[in-house]
Amino acid sequence: MSSALSPPHTAPLGYETGRLKRSLAFMQNPLRGFKPEVYQSGLTQHKSFMMNMWVLTDPSGVSDVLVKKSSSFRKSNLNQRIIEPVSKEGLITTHSKQWKRQRKALAPIFRPRHMDTLSESISDVISDFLSNLDCNSHRSIDLKTAMSDLSFDMLAKTLLGDAKQASDRHLRQAANTAIETCGTLRLSDFLPLLSRLPRPLSPKALTAIKVLKDGARQVLKSQHERGDKSNLVALLAQQGHQQLPLNEQVDNLTGFFIAGHETTAIAMTWALYLIAQHDDTQTRIREELLSVSPSQVTYKNLSNMPFTKAVFYEAMRLFPSIPIIGREVIDDVEILGQSFKKGETVIIPIYVMHRSERFWPQANQFDPDRFMRRPELMSTKNSYYLPFGAGHRVCIGAAFAMMESLLLIANLLHNFEIELKDKNIIKPIVTISLRPDKPIWLTYKKIKNNVRCVQKENVVV
Ligand code: HEM
Repeated sequence: MSSALSPPHTAPLGYETGRLKRSLAFMQNPLRGFKPEVYQSGLTQHKSFMMNMWVLTDPSGVSDVLVKKSSSFRKSNLNQRIIEPVSKEGLITTHSKQWKRQRKALAPIFRPRHMDTLSESISDVISDFLSNLDCNSHRSIDLKTAMSDLSFDMLAKTLLGDAKQASDRHLRQAANTAIETCGTLRLSDFLPLLSRLPRPLSPKALTAIKVLKDGARQVLKSQHERGDKSNLVALLAQQGHQQLPLNEQVDNLTGFFIAGHETTAIAMTWALYLIAQHDDTQTRIREELLSVSPSQVTYKNLSNMPFTKAVFYEAMRLFPSIPIIGREVIDDVEILGQSFKKGETVIIPIYVMHRSERFWPQANQFDPDRFMRRPELMSTKNSYYLPFGAGHRVCIGAAFAMMESLLLIANLLHNFEIELKDKNIIKPIVTISLRPDKPIWLTYKKIKNNVRCVQKENVVV
């Protein structure tokens, strides 16, 4: 293992590339299709055969779009096309009064005071995950698949509260299929006329969405009947009873699965990928963990782990789970002295901003200490660090995602040393999120006897 390994970067195509080649590259992996000047300039116009859009990376322009002049924008048409089949009446896709009413009803569920209670279920899921690792005689895992299963389990247990439903393979399969099928970009998404029509979906995708929605409806019904208050759905049912109609509760539940499952899995995957390559980082995290707790790390310990938190922030800088956010102009507006016309699209490429030397010295290097030296960089008011977005549509699940990810990293490293099995260069590619382009195999060695292999039926790690 070498500390000198710098994280892979998907660089844009060169200046000499023709329009058609760039447009096709954009479609296959938008990170390659941006012009190289996007890394240096705050506002560029991207015109091609298929698209015409503003690409904005200037922090004050970004702050105008997401915060100060946000009423002149709405979520982009592409966002709507992807998410609407799964969550048309939920927080992610609604606008104006409907969105405002829902955000007000749902925000209290994700407040820090609930995190302590929810963290107990998260810790249970992590304990099971660690004991399954211990049972796996191969001592290696496909990181993305393992994190995807784990993040599903964490969300299912805290959202649904019911262990039986949480382990329901149909629901897991349906969530994965919905993300895979709806989240893959298509040519029609970039053709001006076709992109205004609803996206046709395969029978497989439609069945998966039906399974998810039926599951959500059933879970909400049983929560109403039981009056349980220990999980997110119970809180949703309780809050929503007064404020949200049933169809909005259902769509928010499916929306949380879509918005919260893949994003968290990806963030944990890239963080562990980076940690596994840096012995010094692994040692420092472990020293910090030992100073806060000799055994299991709990939610209460997290506030005393600044370095572990800085590592996770640095991982989200290099590999933001949502690498691009888009908005559509709904009222003519001036941004950075430039007139943006109604109907135009604005892209904020978070990945590009996070890798730009304008804001980050040695931008492509893994250096968690940049967040230790300048903790203010983590603030959501900083508009060039945007892993959770910004403004009134900032991620509602950010505190929840931080809790899940930090508890996993801490408890995994408390018990195991991790290493990459091979030295394959893994590149990030954009689908609905920033995925690794090939499987990342992680090997691990037990260093403590805190976790013990507990054999369970049908458990596959
Ligand atoms: C590391 C994990 C996560 C990342 C990186 C992430 C990132 C983001 C980003 C960038 C946005 C803003 C999108 C935009 O402005 O267009 C967003 C919105 C949202 N996220 Fe997350 N997210 C994560 C986890 C979660 C979780 C765990 C949940 C729920 C359980 C969740 C629920 C939502 C919802 C509902 C929205 C829409 C909020 C609104 O428009 O009012 N996210 N997320």
